[in-house]
Amino acid sequence: MQFPIFQVPHLGNGMTIALDAVLHVIISHGLAIGAITLIVISEYMGFKKSSQDWENFAKDFLKFTIIITTGVGAVTGVGIWLITSALSPLGIGSMLRVFFWPWFIEWMIFTSEVIFLLLYYFTWDKWTSERKKQHIYLGAGYTIFALSSAFLITGILGFMLTSDGWPWDKSILSAFFNPSYLPQLLLRIGIALALGTVFSVAFLLFTRRESGFRKEALNFFGKVALLSLSATVIFTWWYFSVVPSSFKTHAKFAALTSHFSQQPEIFWIANITAAFLLFVLALSAMRGSTLLVKILILPAILISMGFVSEFERIREFIRGPYLMPGYMYANQVLLKETPVLDKEGLLKNAYWYNSITKRPDVVNQGAYLFAQNCSACHTIGGINDIAKRVQGRTEDGIFVILGHTHDMVPFMPPFSGTEQERRVMASFLYKLSTGRLKMGAPSRFTPGRWE
Ligand code: HEC
Repeated sequence: MQFPIFQVPHLGNGMTIALDAVLHVIISHGLAIGAITLIVISEYMGFKKSSQDWENFAKDFLKFTIIITTGVGAVTGVGIWLITSALSPLGIGSMLRVFFWPWFIEWMIFTSEVIFLLLYYFTWDKWTSERKKQHIYLGAGYTIFALSSAFLITGILGFMLTSDGWPWDKSILSAFFNPSYLPQLLLRIGIALALGTVFSVAFLLFTRRESGFRKEALNFFGKVALLSLSATVIFTWWYFSVVPSSFKTHAKFAALTSHFSQQPEIFWIANITAAFLLFVLALSAMRGSTLLVKILILPAILISMGFVSEFERIREFIRGPYLMPGYMYANQVLLKETPVLDKEGLLKNAYWYNSITKRPDVVNQGAYLFAQNCSACHTIGGINDIAKRVQGRTEDGIFVILGHTHDMVPFMPPFSGTEQERRVMASFLYKLSTGRLKMGAPSRFTPGRWE
């Protein structure tokens, strides 16, 4: 079964998925796991110490987090399904076939998570005194469900980089418990708690609190931050040590892009400085230096979100040229069908191209070849603009590099199609790069009409 190709103008398909997914990761890790775990612990502190301050802090902070997690968190989660189904239907469809049961169970777990969270919130004022303990158990129950989500989803994410034995044995166990599973799970828990403490400290500082309590709470969150940051550093190192070096060599390029890739020291300087700042924040919180924490907290929030984006970007980027290593390329062409497409032709085998060309005014062959081969990562006129990438080359030059995309840049898949199709696409790209082609009248067929 083939699906029509969508190309998001300007942003590009990859960036569209990334913007939604990274926001989802920040909320799901930082708030749904990290912050709410800390809220349950804060409630417990209030109970243990009979402290109204801890109790109030926990309750106020929950109000904020519950709105963001059940609102933005859930919507961006559904957004990942919607966007990947539209932009990468074969990829997400194949993943769903491999991981049907984990996702099915995850769906039930997610539903339970929401039910527990709402119950936790709405019983806060009712389950008091002798029922307080039960209320804390309810919160702990939520935390266990939230962690189970991470347990299930990480198997799928790990698979997309280290599919290990799956391409050969097609067994779900080797797919799920792949080599990067455990380090990534621990790393994500570290990230969740680190983000959670940063958000908790911000909430603590920007809401009215009694100063004695503020110091005590800062001290506690500082300790959790120090622990979770250290864990994050250690598990990041473990995670990257199990990633095959053929993927890992592109990690710095992924973060720096071609703009800065010639100055790899920027990567280390920026990351180490940023991590140092987070550690300083944790230590100043532990020491109760409110002023310093106040100065550092906004940069720290930006830095920690930056780290999450960087990690996800690197993880997704370095798995190029594959969407599912050993099985499917990033442009959704199966490894095993490439020889057929090279021999018989991509267009001849493209269902949508052939149904579109019943109206030959609507689509340009070169545009379709580009859409199928390259539009997962390149746009025309937007981010990673293909016209810029081939600019300055002759038509023959483009024809030659089209045969060597995977040699030139190892994270790009090879061109699929016959030599004649490669000519057609080279001519299309050449005309694009020299400004001789313009997008034709808007068409509902996304590869578009070019004239
Ligand atoms: C998996 C994603 C991906 C796919 C699919 C992909 N590319 Fe790329 N391509 C990239 C990235 C990333 C870069 C480097 C961007 C940068 O410079 O930061 C790149 C760079 C390039 C360059 C410039 C290389 C150089 O060293 O100057 C060319 C030319 C190019 N791509 C052509 C293509 C063509 C043609 C296709 C389709 C056959 C294609 N790419 C498919 C990701 C991809």
